Amino acid sequence: MTKTLIFGGAFDPPHKEHVALCKAAMKELGADRLVLVPTYSPPHKSGGFLSFDQRRVLIEKAFEGMDFEIDDIEMQRETDNYTCRVLPLLKEKYGDIIYLIGGDSLKHFDSWRNPQDIVKVCPIAAAERGGFGEVARAAETMRAKFGGEFIALKCKGDRTSSSLIRAKLLLGERAEELPVAVMREIEERALYDDYKPMVDKLRGFQSEELFEHSKAVVKRAAEFNSLHNLKQNFKKLFVAALLHDNAKQRRSIDGLNVPADCVDTPVLHQFLGAEKAKRDFGIDDEEILNAIRYHTTARPDMSLLEKLIYTADSLSDDRTYDPIPVLRAVAIKDFDKGFLATLEYTYDKLAAKGGKIYPLTVQAYRYYIDKQYIDNRDGLRYNK
Ligand SMILES: [Fe+2]
Ligand SMILES: [Fe+2]
Repeated sequence: MTKTLIFGGAFDPPHKEHVALCKAAMKELGADRLVLVPTYSPPHKSGGFLSFDQRRVLIEKAFEGMDFEIDDIEMQRETDNYTCRVLPLLKEKYGDIIYLIGGDSLKHFDSWRNPQDIVKVCPIAAAERGGFGEVARAAETMRAKFGGEFIALKCKGDRTSSSLIRAKLLLGERAEELPVAVMREIEERALYDDYKPMVDKLRGFQSEELFEHSKAVVKRAAEFNSLHNLKQNFKKLFVAALLHDNAKQRRSIDGLNVPADCVDTPVLHQFLGAEKAKRDFGIDDEEILNAIRYHTTARPDMSLLEKLIYTADSLSDDRTYDPIPVLRAVAIKDFDKGFLATLEYTYDKLAAKGGKIYPLTVQAYRYYIDKQYIDNRDGLRYNK
């Protein structure tokens, strides 16, 4: 009987790690057939960047030379494409199937719709990442919770993030995580150029160094969002991170509305940045504007998008200040602790300098850090 490996995903875009994972899993599981099942969401609702057909072309390029089929069942159905609905239909169609998911997806399997139904359909396989036994542990947890068969594959994957790749492409960079044929197709068809005018315009407002920083913040925000499954809208985080420093080198107030106490201080650029994002880039989404507006000072009761931009701004790859490896390591392990550690470090640094700390920062420190010390005695001081 033919054993079929089912691998679903947005493939927005398909990358080298997808291909390597499928190859290794086919071998390890002794599967004879590979079926790729791209997700579908109606174009007007889609948070993605490419149509189903564009993604189909890229999948064909990425998996060139391999034996595989693309099943467009999700496009045919259009809606209600939950795994618990689609997987039984694939089982009916292909018989003996194994469902392959990413190691990170396995960790969040209990947040899927009706996991107890999914496990009844077929075994679920996931690949180890980094080799710390995380997937084996997650497989054990899910098995205990829902029953069924979970297979922790021995093949190891790299931590490739599709959203980081999308961020690079939208910034006009090449992504080495993509197979050459996929990258070529993207360039030839000018895919992922949705934000080109915005990126080009920003470049005109920034020195090369600041522009590189803006791009680094976009990438870090995209990475944290997917690493920690923060579920922030990709387009919002992209725009907020890209534009967060748009006014840093444009300090003329131009009659725009900024708090009087920030004028002539370094934090002016966050308030002015929100106003200029509105005026010069046509941004009217308050969530985005607030993420720009508080990216330097922080404030009490921040939204997750605000925390994400704040943390990504402090921990972007272009930053080299002293405790940054520690802060990054904390944030990679646990996003919320990373945010707190960043806020704590920043406050300490400002306090050590002397002089007045902007009131919002003091309030944020009291709101988050003092509270944290009460809740969590062993916590923080960068949590080394
Ligand atoms: Fe800034
Ligand atoms: Fe910045």
